[in-house]
Amino acid sequence: MGALVTSIRQASAEPRLTVDLSAVAANTRRFVELTRGEVMAVVKADGFGHGLGDAARTAVAAGATWIGVTSLAEGVAVRESGVDVPVLSWLNPVDVDVRTAARYGIDLSVPSPHHLAVIEQAGPVRVHLQLDTGMARDGASPDSWLALMSAARKAELAGKITVVGVMGHLPCADTPGANGPGRRALIQGVEMARQAGLRPKLRHLAATSAALTDPSTHLDMIRIGAGLVGIDPSGTTRLRSALRLTAPVVQVRRVDAGTGVGYGHRHVTERATTLALLPVGYADGLPRAASGRAEVFLGGRRRPVVGVISMDQVVVDVEDDPVLPGDEAVVFGPGDDGEPTVGDWARWAGTIPHEIVTGIGARVRRFVR
Ligand SMILES: Cc1ncc(COP(=O)(O)O)c(C=O)c1O
Repeated sequence: MGALVTSIRQASAEPRLTVDLSAVAANTRRFVELTRGEVMAVVKADGFGHGLGDAARTAVAAGATWIGVTSLAEGVAVRESGVDVPVLSWLNPVDVDVRTAARYGIDLSVPSPHHLAVIEQAGPVRVHLQLDTGMARDGASPDSWLALMSAARKAELAGKITVVGVMGHLPCADTPGANGPGRRALIQGVEMARQAGLRPKLRHLAATSAALTDPSTHLDMIRIGAGLVGIDPSGTTRLRSALRLTAPVVQVRRVDAGTGVGYGHRHVTERATTLALLPVGYADGLPRAASGRAEVFLGGRRRPVVGVISMDQVVVDVEDDPVLPGDEAVVFGPGDDGEPTVGDWARWAGTIPHEIVTGIGARVRRFVR
């Protein structure tokens, strides 16, 4: 009884996500040291799930000199969090609120002559010409670059825009040696801009993978998102992970061999065992696709999650360990003590770590340290 009370007192009463901002700071410093150019901290999607304002302030304090986001709303949130370095928003609708951007000092990317025509009406505003350098995703397609450059020059002469930068994005930067075409395309685009009379100060192309593996892509600035939060998509560098997700055991039961567990009895126990219930499920960001493979750290070792991951709960097989209600399970963490990592969960679910860190459910309480 004494042991039970003690363990309940020691454990948190609910799932909690702890964000270790010192890891974000350490990762930022690593990128600052890596390049001769500037470092833009990309804090879209709530700072990759780490808190937009916290991530932005931490990165700037650690040496990042720009902030990157995908929407004006995120840019305004960055400003309101007290960050005063330049901010760029690069996925704006054609009718983006240019006056708000200018008022908050947020640069806008311009991905087509059409966007430029609308944006310049409401200028003056600072812009980055966004070129499609091989993804057929965002940015101006190469056949429109000439028109974009000459229209940008006219708008600049009219005092409607200032062209601060020219940017691209690399499609295959996780693959060694694959950046040549994208890099050449950006250089060609910059040359076209100069011939049109533009003098952009910043050429930027590389995100985390290219920044870590291919210095020839660094140019004047690298844009780092995943790397700041400890994700290295190139698989070459050990960065520090900042997230730790824990959940208390809410119930423990002893079951016989042959017991079906959870929806559809997708798991049936092979022997008599102890099952521990955690109040965390796919609504909290544990991908259901990881069912049958996932593990958590409980009672000093990794234990399998058994049965299908439910919306709010998972069942863990702890065999004969003396696990009690109130004991804390580590769902994922940096991995230093043997606990699963975000990367493990991504692998179990057949996805990438980015999807795990940005998918933590809104009801999980967050603690920052
Ligand atoms: C245009 C652009 N730049 C930079 C980034 C940051 O990439 P990463 O998270 O690999 O650093 C992204 C993210 O998708 C992006 O779309």
